[in-house]
Amino acid sequence: MTVLGIETSCDETSAAVIRDGTLLSNVVASQEFHSRYGGIVPELASRAHQRLIVPVVEEALAKAGCTSGDLGGVAAVHGPGLIGSLLVGLSFGKAYAYGLGIPFVGVNHMEAHIFSNLIDDPKPEFPFVNLTVSGGHTQLVAVNGLFQYDMLGETLDDAAGEAFDKVAKMLGLGYPGGPAIDRLAREGRGSAIRFPRPFLNDASFNFSFSGLKTSVLYYMKNNGLDEQSLAGTSELRDIAASFQQAVVDVLVGKTMRAALERRVRSVAVAGGVAANSALRRAFEQATAEHALKLFYPRTEFCTDNAAMVALAGHEKLQRGMASRFELAARPNLELT
Ligand code: KG4
Ligand code: ZN
Repeated sequence: MTVLGIETSCDETSAAVIRDGTLLSNVVASQEFHSRYGGIVPELASRAHQRLIVPVVEEALAKAGCTSGDLGGVAAVHGPGLIGSLLVGLSFGKAYAYGLGIPFVGVNHMEAHIFSNLIDDPKPEFPFVNLTVSGGHTQLVAVNGLFQYDMLGETLDDAAGEAFDKVAKMLGLGYPGGPAIDRLAREGRGSAIRFPRPFLNDASFNFSFSGLKTSVLYYMKNNGLDEQSLAGTSELRDIAASFQQAVVDVLVGKTMRAALERRVRSVAVAGGVAANSALRRAFEQATAEHALKLFYPRTEFCTDNAAMVALAGHEKLQRGMASRFELAARPNLELT
């Protein structure tokens, strides 16, 4: 079965083709212009998706060496995400499938992130614990089997990537901030400033990053520091490294506790923040200590992409789980 996957939940327009579980193409058009505004502008994202969706789908089909006539189904994300962005990919996907007379299936974006670790070999075996950390989400999920999830915890305020982006903005590092902080932190000392580890010892598996971001702001204020005075200094590198260390400690600490409580053999990390080098190192060390296997997607599958959507859709369609064409976009769609 050949399935076209479509992802337009935020600011990447992406299409991918998968055949019998093997990925044939994955085309991602990133809307770089949002960096000018210091964050994603929803209305502009939606308009860009409208402009890009047809060429991106055409390119994905061409790269896969197939035509629309080869498709056996179409999958598109229907939530969670920005409503205007979701509507473009979902409406296109439904109309395309309807026109071709083939089944359509809606995919949950957070479920697709979990599937990003199931694209390449080796794959985690069920059950495993999955941490998805991106600009919009921080979710810890027990993946018990195909489509079987227990939500363990979520962020109660800012997502991990959002905290990276907001702190980077305060430090004058531009948007998106995650990669900039990651780079700077390599030359800084993670133990220089003891920022709080929110909820680390809390009994739940929930997260909170908004207070940590405020602690960085107060640290700057109390020490008379601002974007200009910090530029190019070792103090800037220490703040970046210490903030990053606090985020990493919380993410790794909670995920490892979940993995041990659930007695799983594998831990999977997904989402844009999964690209963070300090997070990877910390996870490598922690999983090795407990003889657990660690899984990361390829970098192109960490950030939003349609390959993970195509795979989730392929697995659903193979099991007859098609959606009705009435399926609506749901900005706050839950995983479970
Ligand atoms: O998954 P993604 O592309 O989009 C969302 O669904 O949000 O994730 C983007 C997020 C941004 O917040 C960005 O700052 C963060 O991932 N990010 C990183 C790194 N690379 C991207 N955060 C920390 N370290 C990185 N190396
Ligand atoms: Zn995402």
